[in-house]
Amino acid sequence: MLFDPRPKTRREDLFGRERELENLARNIDSPITVITGIRRIGKSSILSVFLNEVNIPSIIVDVRNLPLNYSLKDFYHVLSKTLSSRMDRFIEIIKGISSIKVLGGEVEIKWKGKGALSLPLLFDLLNRKRVIVAFDEGQKLRGPRSTEILNALAHAYDYDKNITFIFTGSEVGLLYSFLGVNDTKSPLYGRYHYNLTIERFSRDLAEDFLKAGFKELNIEVNRETIEEALSFFNGIPGWLTFFGNEYYKGSKRFALIKDMAVNLALEELENVVKERGKRYATVLRAIALGEKSWGKIKRYVEEKEGSTISSSILSNIIRNLEDLSVIKDYNFLDPLYKEASLKLSYAYRNSL
Ligand SMILES: Nc1ncnc2c1ncn2[C@@H]1O[C@H](COP(=O)(O)OP(=O)(O)O)[C@@H](O)[C@H]1O
Ligand SMILES: [Mg+2]
Repeated sequence: MLFDPRPKTRREDLFGRERELENLARNIDSPITVITGIRRIGKSSILSVFLNEVNIPSIIVDVRNLPLNYSLKDFYHVLSKTLSSRMDRFIEIIKGISSIKVLGGEVEIKWKGKGALSLPLLFDLLNRKRVIVAFDEGQKLRGPRSTEILNALAHAYDYDKNITFIFTGSEVGLLYSFLGVNDTKSPLYGRYHYNLTIERFSRDLAEDFLKAGFKELNIEVNRETIEEALSFFNGIPGWLTFFGNEYYKGSKRFALIKDMAVNLALEELENVVKERGKRYATVLRAIALGEKSWGKIKRYVEEKEGSTISSSILSNIIRNLEDLSVIKDYNFLDPLYKEASLKLSYAYRNSL
């Protein structure tokens, strides 16, 4: 179903992404593929459909829920859980795992009869057969253990030619800073990777998508509501899907669905503010109000806070918001984040 809110897994449910699937297939032998694009653009869906169609065993390691300063044990835990869930494909490897241990800060996966196994050795084992290892929202691998993981990836890049790694990332700057392909100090520096950027739907494609989705559900929607949705959701498939699904479930008023969507975006931004500080809320509000230069934002923040903000701190905040793919050149990449930013600051002020 086109308006199913979960990530799609079958080609017939994935609308208008033939070219992206083709590009992934064409670059299947690239050792590293990076799929980028803002949240809800359809990265996980494209990845899943692709992996379901390609005739190579694969795992998707969902690292979204790793804690901020995850330990290697956390990481191994997710990895072994993922391998276990693909018992059918990785039975030989899973049979080998007997326990995960932490010894003096070092983590070992114990493998029956083989002693301790490190991440590079695990990759060597996977390499016995052609395999794809995908990390969904790979920027979450940033943190104190990232060097170990990058070293293992660099090892696999050099020696394990049967493994293709795929990373997706909504926070594009953060994902690239984790991978460090342009950072001379990173283990992956200079390694080739194929990048697939997922773009929003054009207005025409978005309209076709909504029409196809409603047709599939056998419901008529008036022209005006469709127009409103097209203007507001700006071709972002996840929001269009949300709209279609909510309409189908019963909320027939556009304004109602719009509010629900903005509230979802608001929750996501609140997490950014919680993690990074209240100043982010003020800066986001300034940009949402249309302050489109560094100087104007600085003035706005200082007026609100009643004191000066250092240039480097403000530059940092703006750069981080860019790395998080929330803004680019003082514009919001997702119009709902702009709406949410206005509400965010009210919530923030009320809590003072
Ligand atoms: N091309 C598409 N066709 C149909 N539904 C889509 C498409 N792209 C995304 N979706 C829907 O949009 C939502 C977000 O997609 P998802 O793949 O989770 O995005 P991302 O991983 O980029 O955040 C999901 O409900 C998914 O089903
Ligand atoms: Mg995703």
